[in-house]
Amino acid sequence: MKNLDDQLALRECWGRFTTGVSIITTRLSDKNIHGMTANGILSVSLNPPIVLVSISTERNTHDFIKQRKSFGISILNSNQKKIAEYFSKDNILEENVFDYKKMPGGEFVISKSIAQFECNLFKEIKIYDHTLFLATINNFNFSLGDPLIWLDSKYNKL
Ligand SMILES: Cc1cc2nc3c(=O)[nH]c(=O)nc-3n(C[C@H](O)[C@H](O)[C@H](O)COP(=O)(O)O)c2cc1C
Repeated sequence: MKNLDDQLALRECWGRFTTGVSIITTRLSDKNIHGMTANGILSVSLNPPIVLVSISTERNTHDFIKQRKSFGISILNSNQKKIAEYFSKDNILEENVFDYKKMPGGEFVISKSIAQFECNLFKEIKIYDHTLFLATINNFNFSLGDPLIWLDSKYNKL
C-alpha cells in the first residue's frame, strides 16, 4: 500500500481516473467572463437536473459563484487545450480572449465546446478546504465532437 500522507502519490493514483475537461464560467461583466478549468464535476440527477461542482476555497471562482449564485459549464472539445491551460492559471481579470456564447439566462459559455450548461446555485456544502456547489441546470445544449481528455495530469485526445 502507498502511504496516505503521500499526497503526490494520491494525486497520481487519482490520475488513473480519466475525465473530460470543463470550464466553469462566472460573468463579472459582459467584457470580463472569468473562467476556471475543472474536472471535479458530477451529474447528480437528470430529473430534476442537478449538477455538483467541487471547488477549492482558494479559487477566485469559489467566491464568484457564492456572490453571483449562477455560472456556466462548458465541456471542451479535443482542440480546446489552450483554453484549458489558460483557465488553469490563477488570474482574476482575464480578458475575453476566447469566443463566448450567451445562454438564455445571461451566463456565458465557451463557443464550440461540445456541451454547455447554465446553472443556478441552490446549496453549498463545505468540506474542509473545498465547497460542493449544487446547482439546478436551467439551460443546456450540446453538439457532436471529440472531448478533451485529462489523464495522468496531462491533456489527451481519444
Ligand atoms: C484538468 C484540471 C482540472 C481541475 N479541476 C479543478 C476542480 O475541479 N476544482 C478546483 O477547485 N480546481 C480545479 N483545478 C484547478 C484550477 O483550474 C486552477 O486552480 C485555477 O487557477 C483556478 O482559477 P481561479 O482561482 O481564477 O478561479 C483544475 C485544474 C486542471 C488543470
